[in-house]
Amino acid sequence: MFLQNHWYAAALTEEIGSEPFGRTICGEAIVLFRTGTGALAALEDRCAHRHAPLSLGEVRDGVIECGYHGLRFDGSGRCVHIPGQGNIPPRAKVRAYPSVDRHGWVWVWIGDPAQADERAIPDFHWFGDPQWAGFQLYFHVDAAAQLFVDNLLDLSHVAFTHKASIGSAAAADAPVALDVTVHADRIEGRRALKDVDPGPFVAGWGDFKGNIDRTSTYVWRPPSHMQVQAEFEDATTRITVMVINPITPETETTAHFWMGWARDFCVGDTALTDKAREENTQVILEDLRIIEAQQRIMTARPDVDAVPINADKAVLAVHKELGRLFAAQDKERT
Ligand code: FES
Ligand SMILES: [Fe+2]
Repeated sequence: MFLQNHWYAAALTEEIGSEPFGRTICGEAIVLFRTGTGALAALEDRCAHRHAPLSLGEVRDGVIECGYHGLRFDGSGRCVHIPGQGNIPPRAKVRAYPSVDRHGWVWVWIGDPAQADERAIPDFHWFGDPQWAGFQLYFHVDAAAQLFVDNLLDLSHVAFTHKASIGSAAAADAPVALDVTVHADRIEGRRALKDVDPGPFVAGWGDFKGNIDRTSTYVWRPPSHMQVQAEFEDATTRITVMVINPITPETETTAHFWMGWARDFCVGDTALTDKAREENTQVILEDLRIIEAQQRIMTARPDVDAVPINADKAVLAVHKELGRLFAAQDKERT
């Protein structure tokens, strides 16, 4: 079950060109490509003729040609060519999805196309903004998208899961101020730690010699888009990192995850960007190790309930809001 009538990140803008790009989103197989004008197209990845995936075909003259018997479809999903046949049956068409390039990602609307509104795409403007520097990385996840959302909503895991990278075991029991605010369109949380060890990566980014204060302000927007503003400071230095994670369900138990990372310091330092890319890859692999194992256990024993603790405040607020959104969706369908 997936939330309909939302924009989901589907790919990085740079990944979509004149080659068909197949990706499953919310259980729907989709093929992405660019038409002759460079416009994005997102179609059902299933030929109207005999159901071959169009992503195994090729893009010719701005339309996609099925790799099986050569039917061609334009960006609207209309069949425009059948080899050796003049008439095109009206049913020879495939579903088209609204799609938009924005902030370095390709966004695809899952749900009723008539309701697609580009203003609902989250404002992840840090990528391409000259005041910020960073990167966007893709990871396939063998776990439900929500497990990664939950991971980012409960940053108490940082001191444990990431003690070799962005966290520090010494900060594990530090007193934490944790605020969670529910807004109409998002849930925001703020987590502040005072006078803690920065951990090896953060110490390097800010050239911190001793303890720091760290404040994380995180925002969840439905269906599963995460944004964390991480501020690290000591008496002389203050640095900010924006961690942007669109998370897209592939199936009920697999997902697409992007690590968007942008910083407001040493913006022209490309070596630092390369180093941070490597470091953040390690951070995400640390998360994946836990989350994918967690999914395997949950798949084996789906009947066992979780036991909430205080650190789950934001997780519980988001689960409650998701419950409300799914109930509203079910009601609309019946
Ligand atoms: S299955 Fe696509 S052309 Fe036959
Ligand atoms: Fe993590």
